[in-house]
Amino acid sequence: MMLPPFKIKSVEPISTTTREYRIKKIKEIGYNPFLLPAQDVVIDLLTDSGTGAMSDRQWAGIMLGDESYAGSVNFQHMAAAVKDIMGFPYTLPTHQGRGAEKVLDRAVVKKGQIIPGNMHFDTTKAHIEDVGGRVVDCTIDAIYNPYSTYPFKGNLYLKKLEAAIKPNPGNVAYVLITVTCNSGGGQPVSLKNIKEVSLIARKYKCKLFVDAARFAENAYFIKQREPGYQNKSIRQIVREMFSYADGCTMSAKKDAIVNMGGFIGVRDNALYRKLIPLGVLLEGFPTYGGMNGRDMEALAIGLYEGTEEEYLHYRTQQVAYLGNGLKKTGVPVVTPFGGHAIYIDAKKFLPHIKRENFPGHTLTIEFYIEGGIRTVEIGALLAGRDPDTKENIFPELELVRLAIPRRVYMKEHLDYVIECAKNIWQRRKKLKGVTFNFESPIMRHFQSTFKRLV
Ligand code: F0G
Repeated sequence: MMLPPFKIKSVEPISTTTREYRIKKIKEIGYNPFLLPAQDVVIDLLTDSGTGAMSDRQWAGIMLGDESYAGSVNFQHMAAAVKDIMGFPYTLPTHQGRGAEKVLDRAVVKKGQIIPGNMHFDTTKAHIEDVGGRVVDCTIDAIYNPYSTYPFKGNLYLKKLEAAIKPNPGNVAYVLITVTCNSGGGQPVSLKNIKEVSLIARKYKCKLFVDAARFAENAYFIKQREPGYQNKSIRQIVREMFSYADGCTMSAKKDAIVNMGGFIGVRDNALYRKLIPLGVLLEGFPTYGGMNGRDMEALAIGLYEGTEEEYLHYRTQQVAYLGNGLKKTGVPVVTPFGGHAIYIDAKKFLPHIKRENFPGHTLTIEFYIEGGIRTVEIGALLAGRDPDTKENIFPELELVRLAIPRRVYMKEHLDYVIECAKNIWQRRKKLKGVTFNFESPIMRHFQSTFKRLV
């Protein structure tokens, strides 16, 4: 049963458009859904980040904003919530997740150091590289098989991790576990794996951090799938997850259900003291760090709401509803379904389109034309070019992500998405792919424009 544990108090209209209008519009902006004005999108599944609907309590919290430059009462509430839910005694607010990454990496990464982890998110990797560090991917092999049904495909491969650390433990800035593993399909990491990773980190005296963006969805999957956790509450599982880590970076735009915000949580006072000056320099005074007082209040409330079991049950059921609906129509989707999104296997959907003609991106264009649905490619377009050879990088997976904003769309919206996907699936053999019209030199998926092959 998928009973939404909320009812609607305020609505936002969606403008519907005709197919002819969308064909004209997407051509006009150069066949890149990132360049669409939002009012021309019917269902926006571009991201689950900052797109959630806040509750009446969170909106009430907004009215309690204390905008004092220093010592805001809302900061105190936020730090208390982080301590209560995650167990970290020190909180440094940042404007969003990448702000936290920037402050942490500038403080602790030295040039040439490595940061082993499970498929670091692209901003995470970019900030590490920005200060001269290097990521080492240690995810288990199952993540590369879209049809493996392994329940914790986000896990780190311990042998790979130890092999990366052992030759020179002093060269490891920190180990990073991303929960859930977004780049690999929103797949969870088991508590057993978190614990084992922490033991390896401790053995070599390395710090362990968690990229916590979707920590609550990860905890829900642990409760569902990991032996021994069925009788634990989500909050107990969350506490245990973080108990093995020295700290976390958090994009609060995901599981804290706010439109903007983030923080670093740490256990150690000396590390907190080291982070403060960089926080002040890059984000703001340590009691606001780029956030409004009112937004810190909403974040504090959101941390509690985002870890409610009923809500998480509904949320993961909703994602699975979309996944099952697509699967029934024949659309190839990554399994098990992720916590925040369904990922379509574009290589299998459009096997006749060459990788250099971007099957995943082609599918995102078709979703827009078919139903005004905005999705995003996570494949060769996103991967970019090799900095040395300038050749396209063709990653193992060529996916299209349908991310579901929190508490925003109803079952009927998802039925509409499934119906549109079915229509595209039926005419898939006629699709031809795209080539560049303009290729943007950095992060090319955001700004490049395309020609549609006919
Ligand atoms: N870590 C993970 C795992 C993320 O998914 C994101 C953002 C960040 C860090 C950065 O956080 O956006 O607040 O600066 N992911 C978004 C997405 C953008 O669409 O998946 P941010």
